[in-house]
Amino acid sequence: MKTITGENGKVAFELGGAQGVELGLKVVKSNTKKAQFVVFQGGYHGRSIYTSQFSASHRYRSLIGDWRIPLIRLPYPDYEQSTSKENMESWKKHTLYYIKQLAELEAGGMVTRGVNQDIAALIIEPLLNAGGIIKPDADFMEEVVRIFRNLGALIVVDEIFCGFYRTGKMFGFQHYNFTPDIVIMSKALTNGITPLSCIWARDPYLLPKNFPPGTHSATYVNNPLAMATASSVLDRYDQWKDIDKDLSGLEKSLQRIINKIVASSSLAKSGYALGGVGRILLKDNIAGEILEIARTIAWDRPVDGVSGLILASTGMAPNVVALNPPLNISSKDLVILEKLLQMAFEKTEKKTS
Ligand SMILES: Cc1ncc(COP(=O)(O)O)c(C=O)c1O
Repeated sequence: MKTITGENGKVAFELGGAQGVELGLKVVKSNTKKAQFVVFQGGYHGRSIYTSQFSASHRYRSLIGDWRIPLIRLPYPDYEQSTSKENMESWKKHTLYYIKQLAELEAGGMVTRGVNQDIAALIIEPLLNAGGIIKPDADFMEEVVRIFRNLGALIVVDEIFCGFYRTGKMFGFQHYNFTPDIVIMSKALTNGITPLSCIWARDPYLLPKNFPPGTHSATYVNNPLAMATASSVLDRYDQWKDIDKDLSGLEKSLQRIINKIVASSSLAKSGYALGGVGRILLKDNIAGEILEIARTIAWDRPVDGVSGLILASTGMAPNVVALNPPLNISSKDLVILEKLLQMAFEKTEKKTS
């Protein structure tokens, strides 16, 4: 973290992703003593009682009721999905103006008269996963961070999906020009083998005077199995010599496959790849059907022994198909992936026409 951010800091551990987010938010609270949090509409930060309040879908919060935590939801940061007739630059300008007003007048100024504002932290995913594989524009994201940092809010980056090269860089925030105060990681830290999450906070946020010993603990947070797995995973990343080159190759391959689908299928509107993640934006909310068909698309006549394809989508973005292949996928498997994806789109097209 020091090499990447240039900052001294400390780490602390938890079990799963949602618990890691909760730990990060506890550190925010302990340091700021402030109440309000800011997230993006479409953001996803877990489904525990606390984190479900921060995640976009009402479904996750309905059991315990909304608005127990004072929260500001910024507009969905996806120009392509906005209903705006404006061009990207104009959409950006208007959306940022709205966010600035919201932050400085509504949340930070009018209520508190410019002093002692009550915003504790901005919590962001560098690429919104469950929200529909949205990579916010860099200038846009950097300006949002600047607005809230100027108000004294801490910047928390949820790297649970993006971290460990999913977007082509070690961390998703490296696509932008800012340094976070707190970074939350999980999933790829143990390659999904055993639950573990980890937060890093720049000094002084996790130092004992700001986050005293005993503020946080649980029986299994430092369990040896998870620690050993994380250690092996990190060693493998260290030993991966041409990781940047390999992931830029993977991005190109995914982009080429996605371009072909967009050009050939009447179901697809647009698409892009970033590192090891790809998005196909559909014209209608039929991602669920494509996923279902793809799973067994070559059941009767497997392609090179492979009978189906596992794609991703979420209820929050039913018009987005996501591709998340293993980062070390072979070129042979990429060819199979392309064939199966093409077949799945063709079959869905026939079924829906
Ligand atoms: C960005 C992000 N935050 C938080 C979570 C929650 O992690 P977990 O499912 O381990 O609780 C996820 C899981 O998908 C995620 O993608």
